[in-house]
Amino acid sequence: MAVDVQVSRGVTKATADQRPPLNRIFVMDPTADEVTLRPAARGYGSLQPSESPLRSLQFAVDAGQTEEVTVAESATAALESLLMSSPFSDPTLLEATDTVPDRRILPDVTVVKVGGQSLIDRGRAAVFPVVDELIEIKRTHRLLIGTGGGTRARHIYSLAAELGLPTGVLSEVGSAVAGQNASMLGYLMARHGVPVVGSTALSAIALYLAESGAAIFSGMPPYDMWQRVPETGVIPPYRTDAGCYLVAETYGCANMIFIKDEDGLYTANPKNDPSATLIPEITVDELIEADLPDLVVERPVLELMRHARHVRSIQIVNGLRPGLIRRAVEGEHVGTIIRSAS
Ligand SMILES: Nc1ncnc2c1ncn2[C@@H]1O[C@H](COP(=O)(O)OP(=O)(O)OP(=O)(O)O)[C@@H](O)[C@H]1O
Ligand SMILES: [Mg+2]
Repeated sequence: MAVDVQVSRGVTKATADQRPPLNRIFVMDPTADEVTLRPAARGYGSLQPSESPLRSLQFAVDAGQTEEVTVAESATAALESLLMSSPFSDPTLLEATDTVPDRRILPDVTVVKVGGQSLIDRGRAAVFPVVDELIEIKRTHRLLIGTGGGTRARHIYSLAAELGLPTGVLSEVGSAVAGQNASMLGYLMARHGVPVVGSTALSAIALYLAESGAAIFSGMPPYDMWQRVPETGVIPPYRTDAGCYLVAETYGCANMIFIKDEDGLYTANPKNDPSATLIPEITVDELIEADLPDLVVERPVLELMRHARHVRSIQIVNGLRPGLIRRAVEGEHVGTIIRSAS
């Protein structure tokens, strides 16, 4: 048994109340090349190619259930009509923008963040081995290398806050410091052909990656004076951990690895609590529930991970231990893995 619905241009409602689990929709439009059914979870598919203008699409309905589906001649046309007619707060509109699967822009790239305070500030003893390891890894894996700000960023935040300046200004001046660290890493890696890219040049990132296998960017998101104001105080909440994570998530990258100076996330800051123990793996919800006194990553990263479409886990790795970065890039569990969900 099949539900036969003839669809012309526009959105048509059809009720499928047949017993068998499979129903069929006929589309009478030789120009339509895509049909979307909502709810998308029940059926999403493209039209079977056919010589005839009458083409069919099958979708599943649980036996005995009535399912109302919306058939649009194409996802674009349906979305266009909703966007023109509904407020942005309309849940149907918001769902409609989600019917097409997300595309990963750089699916085989790993983003690594080189910590500012935890690594770069330690100077050559910490930086040179990490640079050597990254150069070695880029022979076989494509890397986007983000930088943190470190102690100089903290200094400028304290100075600007003491001068009564707002979050947006702190964000702008803090950016400069992460940018300096990106420049320095760039000069260290220049002989291996690794470029430093500014946020606007990220649009040419595919070219840089194809050419050299890696590129360096400042981890600070370029919000500057548009930085979100925190609940308390004036320190920019989205700093370099969040900036690097957002690059990985937006580009649909394979991995997000934070290179720091500890073996991972502990129950407390191991630098001032000797009883702290390592947490090898945890979910965002568990971590928020645990309400730890201090974290190894910026807290907004957890919130961003909750809504992640691509990068649903991150790993914190000790960059002071040789060899761990490569193993993490290759998917091994060598530090703490924080997952969006279990
Ligand atoms: N629960 C925790 N587990 C592990 N480390 C923690 C924890 N809480 C705080 N830390 C501290 O977090 C530090 C890493 O974060 P920090 O912001 O200093 O480095 P970073 O992010 O690499 O530097 P930057 O922010 O300058 O780029 C570790 O060196 C550790 O001392
Ligand atoms: Mg930090």
